[in-house]
Formats: sequence, C-alpha cells, structure tokens
Amino acid sequence: MTGTLYNVTQTVFSSTDGTLVYAEAIGNKHLPALVFVHGLALTALVWAQILRDPRLLQFFYLVAYDMRGHGRSGKPATIDGHSSKLYADDFAAVSNGFGLNSPLFIGWSLGSTIAADITLHLPPDAISGIVWTTPMPYIDPDVIAAVARPEVQGLFPGLMTTDNVTLSVETKHAFVDTLFNDPPSVPWDIKWSWVGSSTLLKPEHLSIVTSRPQDPAGLFKAGARGLPLLLLSGGQDKQLRWEPVWDIARKYFKDSSVVLIPKGSHALFYDFKDEYVNELAKFAKRVFRIRK
Ligand SMILES: *[C@@H]1O[C@H](CO)[C@@H](O)[C@H](O)[C@H]1NC(C)=O
Repeated sequence: MTGTLYNVTQTVFSSTDGTLVYAEAIGNKHLPALVFVHGLALTALVWAQILRDPRLLQFFYLVAYDMRGHGRSGKPATIDGHSSKLYADDFAAVSNGFGLNSPLFIGWSLGSTIAADITLHLPPDAISGIVWTTPMPYIDPDVIAAVARPEVQGLFPGLMTTDNVTLSVETKHAFVDTLFNDPPSVPWDIKWSWVGSSTLLKPEHLSIVTSRPQDPAGLFKAGARGLPLLLLSGGQDKQLRWEPVWDIARKYFKDSSVVLIPKGSHALFYDFKDEYVNELAKFAKRVFRIRK
C-alpha cells in the first residue's frame, strides 16, 4: 500500500449545545469505521501515525476527534457544559457528520471513558464495540483512586496551577514524559508537539474534565448484552494501573479480550505500534466480520 494517497478530511461538527467538535477522517469512507479518542490534555494529534498506517487503512475508515475542552474543540467553562449526555452527543455529531455506520470506538486513557457516555445515552447500535487502550474505564472517584498511579496524581497540582507558570510548563513536560517507556529516545517533534497541544486544555478546566459526573450503568448493560471489548494494557504503564481495569472488563463484559504487553507504556500505540495495530486490526476484523 506504500505510495497510496488517502483522502484526508479535517472539519468541525456542531454538537447539540452548539459546541464545535474538531474531527478528522482518513481513508475510504465506504469501509467500516474506527473512531479514536485521545487522552487527558492531548488531542487527535497523538494518533497521527496510527491514522496513516496502511495495515488499518486497507480495511477501515479512520476517524479521530478532539474531546470538548481539548485541542481544537470548543471549551465550555461550566460543569453543565461537560454533562455525560453532551459527551455522547459529541460522538454522535462526529459519527453522523461523517456518515458512519455503527463504528468501533477506540479510547486511550481518559478518552476511554466516553464509551460510558455513548452506551448510556445513544442507541445500542451507536457503536459495534469498544477498544480500551491503557484506559481509565469510567469516571468515578473510587475507580480513579484505584487506577491512577501516585506519579500521575502527583502531577495534577502542576497541571491545574493558574498562578505558577514555571510549575505549569515543567509539569506539562513531565506529564508527556510519563507517557513513554524511554522519553529521551522519543523524537522532539513528537514530545514538543504533544506538550504544545496540551496547553490548549485550560488549567482551570482540568478538574472538570477529570471529575465530571458519569454513570457506568450503560456500559455495564452493554457489556452484559455482549458488546465486544478489547482491552490493551501496558505492564510498564507509568500513569495508570491495568489490574483493576482487567477486573472490571471480566466482571461486566461477556465478550472481553484482554491483552497485556509486558513492556508496554501508557502510549502503547506509540511505543508498541506494531503490536497495537495487529491486535486492533484482528479485533476490528472480527467485529466487522472481515475474513482476510
Ligand atoms: C513555582 O514552581 C516552581 C517549580 O516547581 C517552584 O520552584 C517555585 O517555588 C514556585 N513558585 C511559587 C511562587 O510558588
């Protein structure tokens, strides 16, 4: 597939409250779609290499968008502007906007929590399955306490500060470093563009986007009726623990596949791109019944 030019669309869709959601789509729109959602403070930019992977583009239409509060999307300043229903509506705006038919949802880290919004507020066929990449499974104080490692919890004051510029800047670099196995080996253009994109999340919105009210009832119901889940974890993840999430996946999802990449980092799709793409493609082909 090398040398093939793919059609790239970058656009904004309006959500139900008028908030604009930045979204991009790459590939052949007639193929089954995968919708990727980034993690805390970052943007769809993190998927740049995944969205250009020929092994995925051959079979799937690849879509990513920026969560509200982040990147190029709108930034409501109140907790009401971050209701679970609105996060579901943002997904629906992107899915309907690109004309997708029951896409596969793929979340990374905090972005994984949007599956709970979708399954609570949208019809069952809104998604064909869930892929959780080194996830926070849903937003709940006890779950966050169990899943978030002290290292990342320790970065929160620095990510939230509005009066100490030195601390704010240093913490953004430290935050991005904890995503990778070996930060010094990651090219500057990746690290600095990710740090740069993290400045688009307003520090005063950090606690809203990480502690907005969520009800996992829809997620559990979807799991019980057999919605397929793929959980991809990294054994060396410096931000989130995988063990409590495995328990949640096994307890609530009738059809769950769990994969642990023992040396895997938080940015599993970057540090272990080949393994990530292979597992994702295998799962997505099963979900969409592609026999190739
Ligand atoms: C701001 O943060 C820096 C780096 O952590 C720290 O050394 C400094 O004391 C802080 N300044 C104030 C006024 O708190």
